Amino acid sequence: MRAPAQDGGPPLLRVEGVRKHFALTKGILLTRTLGHIKAVDDVSFEIRAGETLGLVGESGCGKTTTSRIILNLEEPTEGRVLLDGEPIHGLKGRALNAYRAKVQAVFQDPWSSLNPRMKVGRTIAESLIVNASGDRAWGNRARIDERVRELLLQVGLRPEQAQQYPHEFSGGQRQRVALAAALASRPKLIVLDEPVSALDVSIRAQMMNLLKDIQAQDDVAYLLVAHDLATVRYMADHTVVMYLGKIIEQAPTAALFEDVRHPYTKALFSAVLVAWPGRQKEEIELKGEVPSPLNPPSGCRFHTRCPWVMPRCSQREPALREVSPGHFVACHLFDNA
Ligand SMILES: Nc1ncnc2c1ncn2[C@@H]1O[C@H](COP(=O)(O)OP(=O)(O)OP(=O)(O)O)[C@@H](O)[C@H]1O
Ligand SMILES: [Mg+2]
Repeated sequence: MRAPAQDGGPPLLRVEGVRKHFALTKGILLTRTLGHIKAVDDVSFEIRAGETLGLVGESGCGKTTTSRIILNLEEPTEGRVLLDGEPIHGLKGRALNAYRAKVQAVFQDPWSSLNPRMKVGRTIAESLIVNASGDRAWGNRARIDERVRELLLQVGLRPEQAQQYPHEFSGGQRQRVALAAALASRPKLIVLDEPVSALDVSIRAQMMNLLKDIQAQDDVAYLLVAHDLATVRYMADHTVVMYLGKIIEQAPTAALFEDVRHPYTKALFSAVLVAWPGRQKEEIELKGEVPSPLNPPSGCRFHTRCPWVMPRCSQREPALREVSPGHFVACHLFDNA
């Protein structure tokens, strides 16, 4: 079922058979369990140092839940996550702080990580101090100011902007401030959950290029969550496609965009392929609504919407199998591949 290590060194982060099921309860005391929402259901992948992994899929497929588990904001119901070979859940105190310094996040809405009443220089400084966990050097005011200057410059802002409040920045600039705060602790991995979706189209490219430049300088890895396939295509080395809590296709991004295999991924792509001239467009329309993760369809979860559905699709869940080097697909169309 599991995709083995991608070529190259050992992974920075490993997600192993992770499930997250939320109990749906009822009654004043919430004591009656009506069922479980299978938000993430047996997901495994790896991220190597300095690379970008793109995570795509329709709304509700479990992207944010996966990110929150990786950020250690949520415990998995089953499975584990390892950073540099060490399990991350169950960490406490200093060890947990050290993890938080290594794995940072930037969300779609920069307001969620910025205090509106705090000058942005102080927000960045606090991120630096909180994550320094005991490193005495950061008790020195001049050094902190110098590092804040450096971080602002790195994200393309001016050092004197440290004295401004979040509302004095544009949306794109606020996202740069959030990025500077995330970079303060020199993380190994940054989870980027829809980092450019809220930005004006004209400044999305700038933000993406900035993220790429920073990756080239600092060798930081990204987990990039996006709806938008163009963003993933531009940014990600590997792409993972999720449907209703499961990975249905994963591959090096170039290979995936060259040769999409899973009917669901094809459907996701057919909406955007128009914009790529010279490409044969295979029009696939997704029928019906995304089924509920409370009661996912039997067998292949996509069978209720799949144009190529076969009898076995509702009976057996397809395994994730390798159809070409590094390219994995969970679909019965490839049973004999
Ligand atoms: N705390 C929670 N309690 C109950 N259900 C939850 C909780 N968090 C998420 N879910 C459910 O889990 C499923 C996956 O949600 P998640 O936020 O991970 O999706 P997503 O892929 O990030 O979607 P979007 O693209 O809209 O951000 C959804 O059905 C959601 O309603
Ligand atoms: Mg989300």
